[in-house]
Amino acid sequence: MGISIIGCGHKMPKFVATNKHLEEIVDTSNEWIIKRTGIKQRRLITDETLTELATQSSKDAIDIAQIDKQDIGLVIAATFTSDTSTPALASNVQKELGIERAIPMDLSAGCTGFIYALATAKSLMESLDIETALVIGADYISKYLDWEDRKTCVLFGDGSGAVVLKRGEQKGIGSIYLNGKPDVEEVLVINDKQATHPWRDAKHDDKRIHKLAMKGAEVYEFACGAIVETINKLKEMSGSQIKKIIPHQANGRIIRYASIKSKIPLDNFYINIQKYANTSAATLPIAIDEAWKEGWLKKGDQIALVGFGAGLTWGGMTIEWNLPNFV
Ligand code: ACO
Repeated sequence: MGISIIGCGHKMPKFVATNKHLEEIVDTSNEWIIKRTGIKQRRLITDETLTELATQSSKDAIDIAQIDKQDIGLVIAATFTSDTSTPALASNVQKELGIERAIPMDLSAGCTGFIYALATAKSLMESLDIETALVIGADYISKYLDWEDRKTCVLFGDGSGAVVLKRGEQKGIGSIYLNGKPDVEEVLVINDKQATHPWRDAKHDDKRIHKLAMKGAEVYEFACGAIVETINKLKEMSGSQIKKIIPHQANGRIIRYASIKSKIPLDNFYINIQKYANTSAATLPIAIDEAWKEGWLKKGDQIALVGFGAGLTWGGMTIEWNLPNFV
């Protein structure tokens, strides 16, 4: 018995912001952004909601899976940017999809969220005897960006992806490695500390509230270490079967570094950061769906998903890809 991905989908906002758009608002250049990150454009939410994107990506995953949506017993959304602080994004999607009974919850673990969510879904499916689960990775990170800070606003985008998990005969998810450590230096933080009651001391209000603050070089160093550690752990745990890697899309240079250090050719790493930038918890399910639909991911492939992000958090898992070839 195992737990496999039996359907996947993704939905991006329609507005494309190219590096040229960013040249118009901050002191940057297309060349700088491409050279330092590999990003050419990103999608940004304008008139959509995150719930709409997450719902559409889920519908597509359910269609591919060819299941009755009422069979879904668990909905986990990896996100920290739900349209509503409560209910959870997962509850909003449950409502939009019309799933009458399921356990909905959000999971916040920065850009590692989707890995944590898949691992949590697997555990709950096993312990609560749930046959089918929907796992979403979706983020609307642009609402937390400081659009005057060239060091951060060029790096991120919005989007959503989803997968359907099902228990069955095939192996599917194999080894899982999760880890985390305190962000002592506050290298990647969105500060939401703000009292609003009448007795608050306004002088303590943080002017940069709700804005992503990042120490780029420190995050870069952490990310390089985390991605290589995760690949090595997964190789060790799974007996070196990994052929293809779908990494979190934060920076093309981080992926190139991982390729060199792990001695796995760069062509065996799936990369789509040029189109979407870093969509946080959404990068992995978006990449899974595109990799399969483009024919990069083939039935029987032994793959590894690898994530890292705020927290600090990192981790990954091996998966035997069981869906028939798309093309
Ligand atoms: N355009 C032009 N110049 C810029 C820009 C920009 N957008 N951003 C920074 N610069 C300048 C800096 O001001 C600096 O100028 P200075 O030397 O005059 O001070 C110069 O470029 C070099 O800056 P560095 O920060 O040293 O550039 P670096 O090569 O480290 O690249 C980057 C910066 C791309 C942010 C890199 O550090 C990085 O990728 N870090 C990791 C970011 C990341 O992955 N974050 C998310 C990971 S976790 C998660 O996904 C949530």
